Amino acid sequence: MNYIDLRSDTITRPSAGMRKAIAEAEVGDDVFREDPTLNELQEYAAGLLGKEAALFVPSGVMGNQLCLNILTKPGDEIICEYDAHIFNYESGSPATLSGITLHPLKGNYGELDPQIVESVIHPSYAYYMTKSRVIAVENTHNRAGGTVISLENIRQLKAVAVKNGLSFHLDGARLWNASVASGISVKEYASCFDTVSVCLSKGLGAPVGSIIAGSKELMQEAFRKRKAWGGGMRQAGILGAAGLYALKNNIERLKEDHEKARILAEVINSVPNAEIDMKAVQTNILLFKPLNMTVQETISKAKELGVLFSPGKVDSVRAITHLDVSFEEVTLAAKVLERMFG
Ligand SMILES: Cc1ncc(COP(=O)(O)O)c(C=O)c1O
Repeated sequence: MNYIDLRSDTITRPSAGMRKAIAEAEVGDDVFREDPTLNELQEYAAGLLGKEAALFVPSGVMGNQLCLNILTKPGDEIICEYDAHIFNYESGSPATLSGITLHPLKGNYGELDPQIVESVIHPSYAYYMTKSRVIAVENTHNRAGGTVISLENIRQLKAVAVKNGLSFHLDGARLWNASVASGISVKEYASCFDTVSVCLSKGLGAPVGSIIAGSKELMQEAFRKRKAWGGGMRQAGILGAAGLYALKNNIERLKEDHEKARILAEVINSVPNAEIDMKAVQTNILLFKPLNMTVQETISKAKELGVLFSPGKVDSVRAITHLDVSFEEVTLAAKVLERMFG
């Protein structure tokens, strides 16, 4: 059966154009920093993000964890949102890779309250307390439903970080979506942070890879650490070509994915047996609550009808739109939702 796959935007496959770019990529040994395509990708991404330097890494998790590692010492603490990816979905690696702990705080649609953040920062004289070292933000916020973190909120949090001598990290796996939805450039968002991690392999459609960016000094340290963690790659320009193609061709089109998510959200909002918080519908992620069946029953029933969803947080179902699901398929998925919850 040909499913309409709304489980994640990570399921996207390289397009014909991207495959051509991969096939034609010039390559070299990236451990010697001699891969011309990867070097071009890193320079291009650093320019897009307005940072001195950028580094290609195999995944978003490695991107986040490298950044947290180079900003901290063992025993330090990261302040983050309770539903953050770094807290929930990175296999406890802050502890295992860096010896650091996370201090999660409940946010509002993914946004941290700057006053609450400031109130939990441990004073520097208190040598017996965990050292608060980094504030981390996620934009868009996956588990909050793809919500966009406002620039105002980010600037307030940055002010708290600067005032208290903390570093500021952005998990921008879907920063592209935030930028397209808000009209604020990724550069403007990134300018607030010491380190930024962005994904190429989600809505942008590349098969592998993320980029981290920051100062030359921090990225040099990340380059060393990436090798130490087994992430040194050889002819990685094969992947770099896909990343460059994604950055040059697939950012603006994300607005279509947001339109598709809105079409589905409006259907869910109109049926009696499902609930959705329309305020959280801002980009390509939807979380909805089935009222006439459980989350697992919903996922199984939808599968029988040709649509794939995944479980969301607590008692919700998650749907994510992306470049491999057409408007026509979205219309079909909407009909399935009407049938299940109407
Ligand atoms: C917000 C966020 N950060 C980081 C990641 C990790 O990315 P990867 O799966 O490439 O390791 C994800 C993946 O879904 C994510 O949603």
